[in-house]
Amino acid sequence: MRIPKEIINEIKNKAPIQDIIGNFIQVIKKGNNYVAYCPFHDDNNPSLHISVDKQIFKCFSCPPENKSSGDVFSFVMKHKHLSYIEAVKLVAEMIGYKYDFGDTEANKFEETITHKIMKEAVNYCQYELNSKEGLLYKEYLNKRNIDNKTIEKFQIGYNPKDDKLYLFLSKKGYKDNDIISANLARLTNNGVRDVFFNRIMIPISDVSGNPIGFTARSIDPKVETKYINSTDTPIFKKSNVVFNLHRAKEKIRETKFVILAEGPMDVIAFDKIGFQNTVCSMGTNTTKNQLLTIKRFTNKILLAFDGDNAGQSAILKTGKDCLQEGFDVLVLNNDTKFDPDEIINKYGAKRLSDMILKPKTWIEFVIEYYKLSYDLDNYTAKREYTFKVLEEIKKVKNDFDKQNYIDRLAGLTGFNVAQLASGVVDGETKKDTPRILKPKSSLQSGIEIAQKIILKQLLFSANNINIYKNKLGYLPNKQFDDIAKMIINFYDQNQYIKFGELLAEIDDSQLISLICEIESDKTHCENEDERLLLDSIDKVKEYEIEIELEKLEARMNNYSDDNMKTKVAAEIVEFQRKLNELRKNRR
Ligand code: GTP
Ligand code: MN
Repeated sequence: MRIPKEIINEIKNKAPIQDIIGNFIQVIKKGNNYVAYCPFHDDNNPSLHISVDKQIFKCFSCPPENKSSGDVFSFVMKHKHLSYIEAVKLVAEMIGYKYDFGDTEANKFEETITHKIMKEAVNYCQYELNSKEGLLYKEYLNKRNIDNKTIEKFQIGYNPKDDKLYLFLSKKGYKDNDIISANLARLTNNGVRDVFFNRIMIPISDVSGNPIGFTARSIDPKVETKYINSTDTPIFKKSNVVFNLHRAKEKIRETKFVILAEGPMDVIAFDKIGFQNTVCSMGTNTTKNQLLTIKRFTNKILLAFDGDNAGQSAILKTGKDCLQEGFDVLVLNNDTKFDPDEIINKYGAKRLSDMILKPKTWIEFVIEYYKLSYDLDNYTAKREYTFKVLEEIKKVKNDFDKQNYIDRLAGLTGFNVAQLASGVVDGETKKDTPRILKPKSSLQSGIEIAQKIILKQLLFSANNINIYKNKLGYLPNKQFDDIAKMIINFYDQNQYIKFGELLAEIDDSQLISLICEIESDKTHCENEDERLLLDSIDKVKEYEIEIELEKLEARMNNYSDDNMKTKVAAEIVEFQRKLNELRKNRR
């Protein structure tokens, strides 16, 4: 099939590449553009660049045969392993672009007999809830603060006893085999009987909104199984289906995150208080398939399970799975033992929405969670705790965050975590970083930060460039020095600095990543600051002198000749004087 060129262009125009890519992987704003850790190779720096103006992406570290560049469709094709047409359709779906592609899944949708039966069943159960027999059940729902509007919205119904649903469907002309195959009835020694009876019936729908199964709650405390779910049918695969996704998907796109709850009652509770971007799996582990389905709509997931132990350990498991699938993971800041639905009823809606709006980061959750299992007053336990948390911190991609978490963990345990984090203890050396970072530590040394500050300051003004030229004119680190030279060259040629244009002139991808990193770094300096520049220049000078002094001292120890010794000693004294002067200035 062919999609008209104008349609493809229209979709492309309505789908900003930075947003679409941002739905699949985390993107980081750099000036007017974006960068990201390239998903197409093992990336240690954000080498994937996204140009907002040109609406293209390019990874500067992938080998050329990897073809990691192109427009929004190229990205989606490559990332999701799709054909061109499939990618166009997916992007259209992601932006809510309505177009009759002819044979898309929605249009290809053929209503099977099971679909028809499910639709009938939903209607019938809704009707029963409003009957006399259903009154008790409706009251139960109302008592749980589920009002009639919500009951309508979620198409909640009731299935009475005495095989009423089966009899209804039979009377409508559906064959036993088909009703059984839809898992609404089963063959027993006493004939064909309802699977669900005396239960509240909550329909489960596919992403397009067709009912395909039920989750059914008993309200009788004596009944052992509180919930029964449909077993798999020709149209219902429990491990694939995400409850409420068909209603939530628009809101998920809009809010750019999804809330994953533990059960349908919690989804309904969130919906009631304004978080219609909530879904759940059916009381089991959320599977990889379910996560991938959710990921079609967002990249950011907030785990909102029960506050009890079971809920919290489910968060640990699910959170790890989500990270594996490339989600950004947040955790409901639930400081109670209750589930979201109970929180609303006990403490009010505001308490729950506060928990959502001020979520914990994944690492904050992990730091707290493991505290429950390890006694930090015991050395061995504390040691194990440290390794557990560190394992998660290692996955953090943002250096600033990582540094912060390491500091927190160090404060908490008293261990020298920074060293552990750099892999010194477990013997791994960081690959791909013979440059900037000394392999010894993932923490940036003072001299490194000073050089970065200088570079960033050079980007601000001609004045700063002149100060640098006059007072220093070189940087000890080769790559930093290269960047400084490029900035100065650019300035000499153009008499201005425009970051985008400067970037276009650099063709070494490592330098591009590095300079982007420096430009966007807000931790060391955000604005033009002459004082800071001068300080940093002094710091570099100090560093150089310290190195010189070290060399001289080593030489001095090697000499046996007193004359030579005296000469070197004089030099040392001279350097020490310079050093003292610099230090005095900096104070
Ligand atoms: P309410 O008690 O109605 O508020 O439900 P809940 O979601 O608070 O239930 P709970 O926390 O006990 O269980 C979480 C999820 O596990 C539920 O939403 C169900 O999907 C599932 N579940 C609970 N009990 C059963 C059961 O007896 N059988 C099955 N198959 N699933 C259950
Ligand atoms: Mn509950």
